Amino acid sequence: MDYGPCTVRDLKIGSTKYWCACGLSKHQPWCDGSHKGTGISPLKWTVNKDQKIFQICACKYTKDPPFCDATHTNLPCQVMERQDKCQNKDKHCQDTKLCTGCGWIPDF
Ligand code: FES
Repeated sequence: MDYGPCTVRDLKIGSTKYWCACGLSKHQPWCDGSHKGTGISPLKWTVNKDQKIFQICACKYTKDPPFCDATHTNLPCQVMERQDKCQNKDKHCQDTKLCTGCGWIPDF
């Protein structure tokens, strides 16, 4: 998982992109189908601004997807707090899938 935005250049206005919402894609910030089985779906986004550079969220905690809203600047503390309170916390070390309760990702 990345803790900062992806700088994306020269998107064509009107083109459609699928923003990875699960964090598992190998082609961040866009979906590569890795979300299958997680219960999380990508966000369909049509480019509606004519601009050269976009800051697209890669941490997956933005409140304005697919754009970075700077939530990542305090993310490690937020993630640790969320994972510490997760009801599935005791099962994380045996899980092979993303925890949809707190965002915990197994090491592969
Ligand atoms: S990368 Fe900035 S809010 Fe996600």
